[in-house]
Amino acid sequence: MAETFYRKILCIGAGYVGGPTMAVIANQCPEYKVTVVDVNQARIDAWNSSSLPIYEPGLKERVERVRGRNLFFSTAVDEHIAEADIIFVAVNTPTKTFGEGAGKAADLQFLEKTARRIKENSTTDKIVVEKSTLPVRSAEALTTILHSGRNSVRFEVLSNPEFMAEGTAIQDMEHPDRVLIGSMDTPTGLAARDELIRLYSKWVPRERIITTNLWSSELSKLVANAFLAQRISSINSIAALCETTEADVQEVARAVGKDSRIGPKFLNAGVGFGGSCFRKDILNLVYLCEHFQLNEVARFWEQVIAINDYQVDRFIRRVLRSQFTTLVGKKVAVFGFAFKPDTGDTRDAPAIPICRRLLAEKAHLTITDPHAIDSARRDLEGLEGLGGQLSFAADPYEAARGAHAILLITEWKQFLDLDYEKIFDSMEQPASLFDGRNHLDHQALFDIGFNVHPLGKPSLVHI
Ligand code: NAD
Ligand code: UDX
Repeated sequence: MAETFYRKILCIGAGYVGGPTMAVIANQCPEYKVTVVDVNQARIDAWNSSSLPIYEPGLKERVERVRGRNLFFSTAVDEHIAEADIIFVAVNTPTKTFGEGAGKAADLQFLEKTARRIKENSTTDKIVVEKSTLPVRSAEALTTILHSGRNSVRFEVLSNPEFMAEGTAIQDMEHPDRVLIGSMDTPTGLAARDELIRLYSKWVPRERIITTNLWSSELSKLVANAFLAQRISSINSIAALCETTEADVQEVARAVGKDSRIGPKFLNAGVGFGGSCFRKDILNLVYLCEHFQLNEVARFWEQVIAINDYQVDRFIRRVLRSQFTTLVGKKVAVFGFAFKPDTGDTRDAPAIPICRRLLAEKAHLTITDPHAIDSARRDLEGLEGLGGQLSFAADPYEAARGAHAILLITEWKQFLDLDYEKIFDSMEQPASLFDGRNHLDHQALFDIGFNVHPLGKPSLVHI
């Protein structure tokens, strides 16, 4: 049966990137055998079960359509390396927490371990594709490790960064703005590149498949994330100015975004960006700039993160001001914990520092989120020691009952459909609502009786 496949693809790393990307490839390319391996047995078991390890709209249907046909999940890393023609590396590359570059540089230990394992288990030539986000020139290190020792197997390393966003991963992968492939400009490098183009051409229009040299491809991924995050920090910095001048940040964003050179996307002010990528990748960019002694460039990008942290700080200070500067013993309902809607992911979610600050003020927090309560529980474990109290509620009405304030942190659409009259009646008075994502109808909430504090615009407060 296996012999009938045109090529065997392996993906090392069954996380947010590896799982969904391979599910899409397996659906689009039935003639390819796609196997996803991981060292994490529990994760692989979940991929093989009806309860997948990550929540992503459309993912389950796609996995169930092809699992066991041409999509497989396994922990047998070595055996699948041996049979693969093309190996995608989608392992995690977190910020280093120790030693040289701690807090900034990418921790490449998982990449290196993977490279060594590929080398040890390969007896046929292979294409190795960097799917993880990596510092520029990582392919050089990868090539060196893969070709070290006496092995005569040849590896061609390509860079093919992933641009999908969580919550829309399937849509982003099935209809990408672009697919980027970096390769060496050698006959074998170009042949490997063409092999990857052939794969993506099964469903991506050819003009959307961009090719560059390896280093441009690696760097473009860091730069794309830095530019996106920079837009958010830009509008968030203006939100601060709006709050002190009675301008409205959404009106400003609309006026500015109408300029076709600027464009309307990614100009939503809020409590700041979260997720596993933006902070990590900008820190990595800063580290690279410092490494090459480009200190002015490093300081420039560092500010994107400084404004993001400032945004949380401002939000908390605004809450405190409206609560007569004390939250001691007051119930505060936190609506949304995931770093964005349609995902259960809470990595670097702004809700984490916000809750930490509220607990330090000795508030009683009740957190509600449609998909992230379990993660929230883990993220906040032990933080009651700061002085506050912590509880979780699947039901937003229960979360809000008896609260002095609601803090909306994640713009889940479920929060649009709630009966806010009922919520208002169940709260302590005066009841405040802080809309950290400008998600709700502020005038309607004010008319119900709430004191409403949108982000980047004047508060609507009953005297
Ligand atoms: P993740 O932590 O969800 O998954 C990585 C997986 O790799 C883990 O399950 C881990 O067990 C596995 N792994 C680590 N070392 C291994 C090894 N030696 N052998 C086998 N498996 C191993 O990470 P993720 O969010 O999928 O991100 C992966 C990469 O993709 C990162 O570089 C990230 O920056 C990048 N990226 C992430 C996103 C995103 O939205 N999450 C988007 C684009 C790019
Ligand atoms: C991001 C990139 O968009 C994606 O291309 C890359 O591959 C991985 O990193 P992701 O982090 O999954 O994707 O989600 P994204 O939609 O970019 O949102 C990131 C954060 O920015 C969220 O916390 C979101 O709430 C915030 N955001 C986004 C804003 O605050 N304002 C906006 O206008 C847009």
